[in-house]
Amino acid sequence: MFIKVLPLFLALGLFLGNGSSPADFEYIGSAKCKSCHNSPAKGAQYKVWAAGPHAKAFESLKGDDAKNPKCLKCHTTMGHTDKDLHYTLTQKEGVGCETCHGAGSAYKSPAIMRNQEKSIAKGLIIPDEKLCRSCHNEESPDFKGFDYKEYLKKMAHPRPSDD
Ligand code: HEC
Ligand code: HEC
Ligand code: HEC
Ligand code: HEC
Repeated sequence: MFIKVLPLFLALGLFLGNGSSPADFEYIGSAKCKSCHNSPAKGAQYKVWAAGPHAKAFESLKGDDAKNPKCLKCHTTMGHTDKDLHYTLTQKEGVGCETCHGAGSAYKSPAIMRNQEKSIAKGLIIPDEKLCRSCHNEESPDFKGFDYKEYLKKMAHPRPSDD
């Protein structure tokens, strides 16, 4: 019940962000991350993602498959998550930032983002191999095997080192 009324509170701007529990974290969509994560000097994560395989995951589903929850589960952030927690996320973005980094509504402010501990408390996930394997596994009809190091290289979006 509580989860269902949450979007209304957000819409009314009543969300205070204090004492959050996972149910408070809403999916806001990759476009919202773009404003701060697209500068070349910092690694242009948005651009790298948009040109990579995950941004195209929804487009790969043709015809009825684009409505099949069994496919959407791994081909969209939406299908991978609790539907009650979607705020401004759309299906079209495929496997977006928040599939791997967690719902962003509460960690997206710069003061929180600059501090990893605070960000994690507000829902940020630092992804690991296990998370990848929640989709890259035999359940996928097109499974080609999964080598974490190799696959990570193909989609990596690090910040250039400061020194
Ligand atoms: C208002 C600006 C802003 C927005 C919006 C924002 N971020 Fe950030 N993010 C930052 C800043 C600042 C840092 C600190 C590192 C840096 O300066 O690049 C950061 C760091 C991160 C890190 C690295 C965390 C770590 O400690 O290793 C991840 C991952 C991340 N952001 C993901 C996201 C995602 C996903 C979204 C969208 C849901 C998002 N950010 C939205 C500003 C932002
Ligand atoms: C929510 C499910 C999901 C998660 C989590 C996920 N992926 Fe994917 N990944 C996909 C889908 C779906 C595709 C296929 C996209 C397409 O072409 O439609 C894909 C494609 C890829 C590809 C391209 C493979 C190729 O054949 O060219 C790489 C590389 C990749 N993922 C790496 C990773 C890594 C590394 C992680 C973890 C950090 C990860 N993925 C997490 C769903 C996921
Ligand atoms: C368990 C997660 C999962 C499910 C369920 C899933 N997929 Fe995928 N799909 C993936 C991953 C991961 C890839 C990337 C292939 C790889 O590297 O293993 C992929 C790749 C694809 C591709 C691109 C193939 C290529 O080689 O370019 C298509 C098309 C596709 N899936 C269609 C579907 C359809 C249709 C369904 C539903 C019947 C479906 N998938 C269900 C995870 C999944
Ligand atoms: C398929 C999973 C996946 C997706 C989608 C994804 N990331 Fe990441 N991201 C990762 C992984 C894995 C790392 C490396 C984590 C580590 O340092 O161990 C990472 C690292 C980062 C970092 C830290 C870079 C650094 O070197 O400090 C930022 C910032 C970031 N991602 C932002 C984003 C943004 C913004 C998006 C969407 C535009 C996004 N990511 C999409 C998996 C993903």
